Amino acid sequence: MTSSVIRTSELKKYYSDKTKALDGIDLNVASGEFLAVMGASGSGKSTLLHLIAGLTRPTSGQVLVEERDPSAMSDTALTRFRRRRIGLVFQKFNLIPHLTALENIMIPLLAEGKSRGSAKDRAFELAAALGIADQLEQLPDTLSGGEQQRVTLARALSLDPAILLADEPTGNLDSLSSQRICEILDRLCRNENRTILLVTHEPTVAVWSKRLLILKDGRLIADRPTSDFQDAHHLAAAYQETVEEELRSAEKERAE
Ligand SMILES: Nc1ncnc2c1ncn2[C@@H]1O[C@H](COP(=O)(O)OP(=O)(O)OP(=O)(O)O)[C@@H](O)[C@H]1O
Ligand SMILES: [Mg+2]
Repeated sequence: MTSSVIRTSELKKYYSDKTKALDGIDLNVASGEFLAVMGASGSGKSTLLHLIAGLTRPTSGQVLVEERDPSAMSDTALTRFRRRRIGLVFQKFNLIPHLTALENIMIPLLAEGKSRGSAKDRAFELAAALGIADQLEQLPDTLSGGEQQRVTLARALSLDPAILLADEPTGNLDSLSSQRICEILDRLCRNENRTILLVTHEPTVAVWSKRLLILKDGRLIADRPTSDFQDAHHLAAAYQETVEEELRSAEKERAE
């Protein structure tokens, strides 16, 4: 039986009466699932990931990650839980500017008490897999956007987390590098049963997932197996159609 790794019920995050970033999300994610989250800018994708990671608290409703409620944990417990169980790749890279790429990747490993030698080995291994082995001695601001993104991904994967939350991890990459990252993510789910939630605007990235979520104005308007779509082109068309259909029915409701 596959157990639920992430569960949300009636999850809401309101920043104000007008800004309902998330407006009632019910989601059940099983271990080893690879989900893509799509939706227009401002539809609540990052907010969803932040709530799952316990970086912000829900206005109401609940998030459970491996049956634990991040908003009920102490700060120290949450930091440790996140470091051990959840890999985070966010839109802002959050690399430490005065540390080299190598040192940035090593941070979680050292924080968990690994020796410098084994942390370095692990960092080299990830860097090679992500194609940034030659950039390890550089400081973040000397790296290209795509390289910074890959350093962030390497750091997120360093402790081999059960859950990876990635917010547009391929946003700054050329299509070849971006497909390479997708292959790595695909392998992580397939061979190592990692659970991945990936936010993306790119159909060519989303098509790698097994399940596609579409958010609109903080609501889930679609939750479909990606196998419904033959290819990225199909997925893009279906995405467009779903969003337009939702617009039409909202307009109809207003008119009535
Ligand atoms: N800290 C905050 N304070 C106030 N409003 C916020 C805050 N964070 C997000 N919002 C608002 O909540 C809504 C959802 O934001 P979110 O960042 O989740 O969107 P998104 O789908 O990730 O968009 P994008 O594709 O542009 O990254 C937006 O209207 C945004 O302005
Ligand atoms: Mg976002």
